[in-house]
Amino acid sequence: MVANNISTLIAVRDVDALRRRIKAWRREGKSVALVPTMGALHKGHLTLMDRAQKMADCVVASLFVNPKQFGPSEDFTAYPRRENADFELLNTAGVHLLFAPDVNVMYPAGFSTSVRVEGLSGILDGAHRPGHFDGVSTIVTKLLLQTLPDIALFGEKDYQQLTLIRRLVADLNIPVDIIGVPTVREADGLALSSRNAYLTAEERANAPALYAALNTAAKFISDGGDVAEATATAEATLHARGFRQVDYVEARHADTLAPLASRAEPGRILAAAHMGRARLIDNVAIPQLK
Ligand code: PAJ
Repeated sequence: MVANNISTLIAVRDVDALRRRIKAWRREGKSVALVPTMGALHKGHLTLMDRAQKMADCVVASLFVNPKQFGPSEDFTAYPRRENADFELLNTAGVHLLFAPDVNVMYPAGFSTSVRVEGLSGILDGAHRPGHFDGVSTIVTKLLLQTLPDIALFGEKDYQQLTLIRRLVADLNIPVDIIGVPTVREADGLALSSRNAYLTAEERANAPALYAALNTAAKFISDGGDVAEATATAEATLHARGFRQVDYVEARHADTLAPLASRAEPGRILAAAHMGRARLIDNVAIPQLK
C-alpha cells in the first residue's frame, strides 16, 4: 500500500504540456511508447502497458472517450468513465505519463479535418457503425502526431482497428511502429472489454459462446471445411446461445481483410454480435495447414 501513496504518474491535459515532457525525454535519448485508450481500464489495457514498458524507456497512456467514433444511437453517454481508478491503475503499472485531454483540446471550435481509410473503414464493423472508423482514424492520427512516439500499441481484440491503423500509418508516412498485442481473455474465453460491464449474470454466462463459435469455425476451415458453412454454423450457434442479433461472422485475409480467397492465405475470422445491451466483437486466427 505504501508504494501506492507515492504517485510517480504525471497527468497532462493539453498538447503543449505533453510535448514538453516528451521533449525532455528525447533530450535524454529515451525512447517513447504510446498506448491510446478510452479508459475504464482492465487487464487487456494493462497488458498493453506492460508490453510497452518492455519495449520503450518511457510510456505514455492516453485516455479520451472520443465522441467522433460513437454513432448517434451508440453508448457515448453510457460508456464507463472511471478516471481516478484508471489513474491509480496506470500509476501502479509504472506508466510515466497520462494524457487525458478535454474534448475541446482534441476538437477545438472550427475543427474540420477527418482522416478516412478508404475501403477498410466501410467493411465489417464499419458497415454496421457508419463513421466509426473515420472517428478512430482521425483521433489516432492526432494522438500519434501529438506524441510522435517510437512505437504505439493496439490490441488484436479490435482487429479491424489495428489493421486500419497499420494502413493509415503506412499511407501517411507517420514515423511510428505499430505493435499488435494478442487478445487478453477471461478464463472462460470471453475477451476482456469495458463493455462487458453491460452484461447481466445470465448474459455473461452465455457470452463466451462467441469465442467458442469462432474457434470451432476456424478449426473447421483449417481442417478443409467450407468457409460459408463454417460462418453460417457459427451464426446459428450464436443465436442459439442467446445473442439477439449477429451483425456478421466473416472469414477474411488476415492482413488486408479482403474476403478469404484460398485456404493458403493467412486467415482471420471476425464477428460482432449483440448480447443484451452489449455489442461484443471478437476474432481468431485460422490455423494454417502445415
Ligand atoms: P479502448 O477500447 O479503450 O481500447 C484501448 C486499446 O486496448 C485498444 O488498442 C484495444 O484493442 C485494446 N484492448 C481492449 N481490450 C483488449 C483485450 N481484451 N486484449 C488486448 N487488448 C485489448 O480501442 C479504443 O479504445 C479506441 O478506439 C482508441 C484506439 C483509443 C481510439 O479512440
